[in-house]
Amino acid sequence: MATETIERATKTINVFIADPLSEDGIQPLRLETELDLNVIIDTGLSPEQLKEKIADVEVLLVRSQTTVTREIIECAKKLKLIGRAGVGVDNIDLAAATEHGIIVVNAPDGNTNSAAEHTIAMMTSLARHIPQAFNTLKNGKWDRKSYVGVELKNKTLGVVGFGRIGAEVAYRAKGSRMNVMAYDPFLSEERATELGVTKATVEEICTQADFITVHTPLLPETRNLINKEKFAMMKDGVRIINCARGGIINEDDLYDAILEGKVAGAALDVFIEEPATDHKLLTLPQVIATPHLGASTVEAQESVAVDVSNDIIKFFKTGTVTNP
Ligand code: NAD
Ligand code: MLT
Repeated sequence: MATETIERATKTINVFIADPLSEDGIQPLRLETELDLNVIIDTGLSPEQLKEKIADVEVLLVRSQTTVTREIIECAKKLKLIGRAGVGVDNIDLAAATEHGIIVVNAPDGNTNSAAEHTIAMMTSLARHIPQAFNTLKNGKWDRKSYVGVELKNKTLGVVGFGRIGAEVAYRAKGSRMNVMAYDPFLSEERATELGVTKATVEEICTQADFITVHTPLLPETRNLINKEKFAMMKDGVRIINCARGGIINEDDLYDAILEGKVAGAALDVFIEEPATDHKLLTLPQVIATPHLGASTVEAQESVAVDVSNDIIKFFKTGTVTNP
């Protein structure tokens, strides 16, 4: 056992970073002295280039730009661990990783606050037409008539998916004096009461909420969770926010619901296909959007990279991880 530990500690472990990560966040890897970690940073590669470059690496570390497919996993014969500097592991083929005995770790807490703050910023911008008004003003027009907004106070916010980010969004929305309804299969009546929210079904949220925000992972059960049928139940003039994952809200159905006047506006940080520079939803004046910026703060990026770096070190020292 002792010999095994020494062998593990002296062997070079190649850690390949394929997406831009916070330099401060990967310091634990650089400062590690017991393990011989060789940190390689090479971002923006095509799948073909990536396959070639990771043939001999033990660790692949990504954010959300790189899709770690079965093909890529099967080219990395020495791969032992895939690290995801963020929450969603939907860009990693988990089945293929499991089949090849590769452990996948993520950073579930590090960007919670940033994602919640971004959601609130998007909801407020949506309510007050801030991006549209700014754009008009930048184009030299002082237009006060077109941008009359609505208040958040006394409005009902429906939160679908009440995990880390959903709960933080609810907490902040209550600070804006909104009434909050929440749906999550794991939400207990006690926790809802403790957080001052009303436990509800998706249908109840759809029929009663003025603003609806989704915070679930993208899973087979959550894909198209908000669709044509759900839009039909909603109040006229409802506003929709998605800072979780493209596809939880059916994009075609959202587009139609906006054209029909059912939905007054939508704030989107995520899309089914990213980058989404040429998307029909972006042609609608009722839609405001950001390019997947929910976790893009200095603090969150440092935090997720530190968490995942520490888990890589823990794995090679102890064989266990904190966030499998
Ligand atoms: P979390 O795991 O803490 O919470 C997710 C919640 O969704 C859980 O409570 C779970 O019970 C619930 N859920 C699962 N299936 C559901 C269903 N069918 N209906 C309703 N609820 C369901 O995750 P989190 O940290 O809160 O992240 C939520 C989402 O936000 C993830 O998709 C994540 O990838 C995304 N995210 C996006 C950004 C961004 O940059 N835009 C940043 C961070 C996280
Ligand atoms: C996440 O799931 O953590 C987000 O997509 C954030 C990101 O990595 O950009």
